[in-house]
Amino acid sequence: MAHIDILVATTSGNTEYLADQLSDQLLAAGHTTTLHYEPDYQQLINSDPATWLCCVASHGAGEYADSMLDFAEQLSQHQPDLPLLRYAVIAVGDSNYDTFCAAGRDCDERLQKSGAECLVERLEIDMSIDDPEQKTSTWIELFIKAL
Ligand SMILES: Cc1cc2nc3c(=O)[nH]c(=O)nc-3n(C[C@H](O)[C@H](O)[C@H](O)COP(=O)(O)O)c2cc1C
Repeated sequence: MAHIDILVATTSGNTEYLADQLSDQLLAAGHTTTLHYEPDYQQLINSDPATWLCCVASHGAGEYADSMLDFAEQLSQHQPDLPLLRYAVIAVGDSNYDTFCAAGRDCDERLQKSGAECLVERLEIDMSIDDPEQKTSTWIELFIKAL
């Protein structure tokens, strides 16, 4: 059994809804979760070793959605070493924007640079064409297997 911290970057709620569903799936598989709707950088960074599932919507011009702006700024500023962290990223966006999924890609890149272990390759959800539930169904199985 693993404990998974689910970090949520959302402005209008789509990603929060998705994160809630993923949490339910992880609980059903026998794991425990904490949902962080406004991730607290200090708290999360100090709870290493840990497993993070980052669900990150892009807003603005490829910026992180509001609920994770502060966390992203601190991550960028401090560039921590996180060798004991395991993580995976689900990037949420819309391909009508040039900066498609830019925040989720940035999150993945920063965590890779921190020395954290990526459990499953990043999933990108295009809200203009994808059904998020369907798109995550196979991916979450891979994530659960990797835990
Ligand atoms: C004002 C605005 C700006 C957006 N900017 C981007 C963007 O730069 N890149 C992208 O991939 N998606 C962008 N999107 C699409 C959102 O990521 C998409 O609507 C997503 O479902 C929002 O998730 P949320 O409801 O959790 O905030 C933008 C949406 C809005 C409304």
